Amino acid sequence: MKLYYITAEGHREMHIEVVADNAALGRVAADRILRSYDDGRLQVLGVATGGTPASTYRELAARSAGRLHDIRLAALDEYVGLPANHPGSYTTFVRQHIAEPLGIAPGQVGVPRAEAADLAAAAAGFEQQLRDNGGVDLQILGIGSNGHIGFNEPGSAADSRTRAVTLAERTRQDNARFFDSVDDVPREALTQGIGTILEARSILLLASGARKAQALARAVEQPPTADCPASWLQRHPDVLVVADEAAAAALSRRPLAARGA
Ligand code: PGA
Repeated sequence: MKLYYITAEGHREMHIEVVADNAALGRVAADRILRSYDDGRLQVLGVATGGTPASTYRELAARSAGRLHDIRLAALDEYVGLPANHPGSYTTFVRQHIAEPLGIAPGQVGVPRAEAADLAAAAAGFEQQLRDNGGVDLQILGIGSNGHIGFNEPGSAADSRTRAVTLAERTRQDNARFFDSVDDVPREALTQGIGTILEARSILLLASGARKAQALARAVEQPPTADCPASWLQRHPDVLVVADEAAAAALSRRPLAARGA
């Protein structure tokens, strides 16, 4: 099912595709990515980590037949306090789930250098690398149960840039499943900012599972606010949301303009 929302600020359409489950989400997202590549519009792919996009990366690996090997990958964020080769780091995730299966060389992969002693310099260096590579063509995003994108937790401003942040307690609880215990989840991260993310030419927001339903409804149906960082995406001209039925459960499914919002 395809939904079209006129955003709360009234001047943008957001397209939402609702599919049955996470496997279907992976197929639709991979279609979008491969189409972009085949049309010659994908040189830099912005990649999200976590549970939601794993099916997308599996689909890409199965269907791309090696043809994505020449793209660059740019990660959204990395934990502070984990060595880059730690099994729970996002550097490891991007290598294992995306770069290696797609045949992309390590030199083509950019992850914020959260191991650096000077995090402000690492953040500035990451932004410079994005610019040097011509910016992100297509950015894949997940959404946190608290509405975060990347590690931009509630309170993140629309013009925020790559920076060190403190993780919300809810995020640490949500991500505890990737660690032995919640005590092992880092407390800080280096993340692309909202302003950085909004510079991607095109955005693909993926939402899967009942845990995301309230955050997704807020993100697309309420006026943009720092309380729900994903709602800033309403300001971007080219966003496709792919949500499974569980994540879409709280959507009104009526275009906001029709409600007079
Ligand atoms: P998840 O994370 O896909 O593991 O639920 C999403 C996010 O926090 O962005």
